[in-house]
Amino acid sequence: MSGFATLRLTVDPDDPDLAVIARAAAILRRGGLVAFPTETVYGLGALAGDANAVAGIFRAKGRPAGNPLIVHAADSAGAREVVAAWPTAAARLAEAFWPGPLTLVLPKSGAIPAIVTAGGATVGVRVPDHAVARALIHAAGGAVAAPSANRSNAVSPTRAEHVLHTLDGRIDALLNAGACRDGLESTVVAVPEGDRPLTLLRPGPISAARLAAVAGRGVDWNENAVDGCGDEAAGITTSPGRQPLHYAPATPCRLVDGHEIAKCAGPERRYAVIARAGDQPSGDLKNGAALMIELPGDAVGYARGLYEAMHRADVAGLDAILVMAVPRESDWDAVRDRLTRATA
Ligand code: TXA
Ligand code: MG
Repeated sequence: MSGFATLRLTVDPDDPDLAVIARAAAILRRGGLVAFPTETVYGLGALAGDANAVAGIFRAKGRPAGNPLIVHAADSAGAREVVAAWPTAAARLAEAFWPGPLTLVLPKSGAIPAIVTAGGATVGVRVPDHAVARALIHAAGGAVAAPSANRSNAVSPTRAEHVLHTLDGRIDALLNAGACRDGLESTVVAVPEGDRPLTLLRPGPISAARLAAVAGRGVDWNENAVDGCGDEAAGITTSPGRQPLHYAPATPCRLVDGHEIAKCAGPERRYAVIARAGDQPSGDLKNGAALMIELPGDAVGYARGLYEAMHRADVAGLDAILVMAVPRESDWDAVRDRLTRATA
């Protein structure tokens, strides 16, 4: 899909105008693509049960067919319609964290066409904690498949402008409700039957420790999960979206330690620096920066601002984006994961 105007619709994030939502839902029902906000990042939606519409998502994004999509439901009952099993651990996690930034990977039901799961037997499903997303899914009358609303390999969008930056003219409509609350994609966890441990496929706003506490099971982190559909006979252990460069800006991006001036000086002539409040970039690094972006010093605040900072730095047309390294503590796991991939 390309070369046509993308309809811009603006709604209040907490109390969306239902007439506007109905317009967007009508586009989904006739097989169109609508970008919409969630609490994590903007998603690019199509009706999950409509294989042709879902094919449009892969085309618009330039997404490899082997990378499955997350299905979004308006509530737990809607989520259960797209899965074929509902282990106790899934019920507990859904009760504790939905609506919210947690994707459960479970065996798929017949309601989900193969294209959504890249041919695999499992589906990732979540209930987003955003009034606009849930109103849209409800009005569309069924679950909505939605990857992040960006061209494949670009940084996920946390604002409507970021969506337009790579998808304007390639999708039917965009619901603009301002900035996303969390700013990083959902935690993705595979939930096997029985009492086997969970497998963390992508760290996110809900930590592994919280998952383990609620599920009453161990959580293995498959940090090196790479290509594959993720549902081999041995169990769901891989996540295809985890190629090293998945979240990279177009501008070369690297992690630096602000105290190592030699390493930081590098060959770059014009660069942006993304730092945390409390970081002390060396004087040389700071003075040489064409763009200096300071994010909050806490992991939640930093996560909220990170992609926005990367988008800002990316459109500035510089030679490099230098990101100051973040702490090794576990509450920084999701941020560190995304930074490692963006700078790989
Ligand atoms: O917060 C989010 O999760 C956002 C919003 C829009 O909901 N969505 C998102 O989608 O980040 P996407 O497509 O950019 O990333 C989905 C990730 C990919 O790494 C994909 O491989 C993995 O989830 N995934 C989806 N279904 C899976 C499955 N059945 N098995 C293993 N991994 C799966
Ligand atoms: Mg994505």
